[in-house]
Amino acid sequence: MSSSGADWGDGYVTDTAYLPGYYHHQSPLHLNLACLLGGVTGLAITPESSLSYLELGCGCGFGALALAASNPNWQVTGIDFSPAHIAAARDLAAETGIVNAQFIEGDLADFADCDSAKTLPEADVITLHGLWSWVSDPVRAGIVRLIGRKLRPGGIAYISYNALPGWQQAIGMQRLVREAGQRGAGRSDRQVEAGIEVVRGLVEAGAQQLSAFPLVHTLLEHVDRGQLSYLAHEYMNAAWRPCFHADVVRDMAAAKLDWVASAELLENFTPLMLGEQARAVATRFEDPVMRELIKDMCASRCLRRDVFVRGARRLSPGERDAALGEVTLGLLRSEDRFTWEMDVPAGRAAIERGFFGPIVAALAEGPRQVRDLLALPDLLRRDNPGELVGVLVGTNQAMPLLAPPHEPDAAVRRFNSAAARCFVRSDNLNTGMALASSGSGAPLPCPMLDLFVAARLEQRERPDSAGWANLLGSIQSAAEQQRLADFIDRLIAERTPLWRQLGCLSAAALSV
Ligand SMILES: C[S@@+](CC[C@H](N)C(=O)[O-])C[C@H]1O[C@@H](n2cnc3c(N)ncnc32)[C@H](O)[C@@H]1O
Repeated sequence: MSSSGADWGDGYVTDTAYLPGYYHHQSPLHLNLACLLGGVTGLAITPESSLSYLELGCGCGFGALALAASNPNWQVTGIDFSPAHIAAARDLAAETGIVNAQFIEGDLADFADCDSAKTLPEADVITLHGLWSWVSDPVRAGIVRLIGRKLRPGGIAYISYNALPGWQQAIGMQRLVREAGQRGAGRSDRQVEAGIEVVRGLVEAGAQQLSAFPLVHTLLEHVDRGQLSYLAHEYMNAAWRPCFHADVVRDMAAAKLDWVASAELLENFTPLMLGEQARAVATRFEDPVMRELIKDMCASRCLRRDVFVRGARRLSPGERDAALGEVTLGLLRSEDRFTWEMDVPAGRAAIERGFFGPIVAALAEGPRQVRDLLALPDLLRRDNPGELVGVLVGTNQAMPLLAPPHEPDAAVRRFNSAAARCFVRSDNLNTGMALASSGSGAPLPCPMLDLFVAARLEQRERPDSAGWANLLGSIQSAAEQQRLADFIDRLIAERTPLWRQLGCLSAAALSV
């Protein structure tokens, strides 16, 4: 609700702008991979082909623009009902000269029925992140109608939402934050702060319906990090309602969507999600919806990231493996920083060095296709492209690429510089952002601080960690600034080869 009293948002927060952020699960290449792991045909995305991408509830458009800058052949459209968000997205597009992205102000409750929707191209991919469980039933129905009319047969939809039963214990917390917050005056970010203070007080008092729940402590950490506009959009909406996967699947069936996989790739591997006994129960069911419910009961999944296809076509295991073999992977960290363990709901699992060691070493040299990686000498096994891709990408240590990247073009360089100029602040250096990249088909996820450093280097500034730390941390103590300067030094040493390899940073930027 707007603090001015005009509730054009029908109960959704409209008086506080949402923060920019990049979520790699929305990248079409990542979604394609999820489809293959789910055993269904993905999209044929090539460096030459065009792709129509539609994001619903796009916020200030950072993710959509990063995809557009990285893929000049694609047509990217973002829709949001907040004029402030659409204005910010259009300004950033204009500033960076991006011409393959458009942003439309529209209310998803009725957008599907209006003239602008009729003129939209059929979409290959539609994504909505942070929207579904935060909006009312009429908006959800409008979203389903729009997907049904605009997603092409065989197209991919991505929907994230607060999931049940993961959220069950903390439903009271959300209600408390909203009720207490609304009794305070001012904008939604002030209200959420007031509401959370009441939660904090009751946690300290040992309130039974708060103190024991991990989500409550996550909430308090977010406040301590000053993320009030994020929290306002998360907690202050009238229609906020977490959902069971089975209900979302049923709703999406009206748009002829089939659920195919989780965009959290490790979640598609049942042995990583369920212990032996739970697996024995799950195997009694063929139906994937029932198996997902069992996974949701056994793990503490609070946010689901579901991938749907409009008319899923099943692949045989041989077809699936052949398609996975064509995938190109790029490593996201240096070999010596590779993590050889992963925490999964079924426990802590080791990443097998006998299999992954030579693969990681080869990828450290540069992007490679999965089928080439499986042909490397000295591998323990060669018949498991799904495991290879699932583990490397699922642990965020590699990403799928359209092709080997190349020197960043002008649009990519302009986008990265403008994003740094618009968004970097001393209090948001850890926010998850991305560097646009040339040739790879997908931006490189990174913290805000990377955006700052990469943009400075691209502008041919000499590395100056002390000066940059001073610029970013002028209100911090000398010791904190020194820590930041040391961190920037490490970042430059470790990340610049990667930025270069993945098409985010010019060779000339490193020769200053
Ligand atoms: C939590 S934010 C997520 C923004 C973006 N997807 C992200 O993850 O960064 C939800 C977005 O949905 C938009 N929104 C909410 N209700 C809407 C509606 N009925 N029609 C269009 N957009 C809506 C809000 O303005 C906001 O930008």
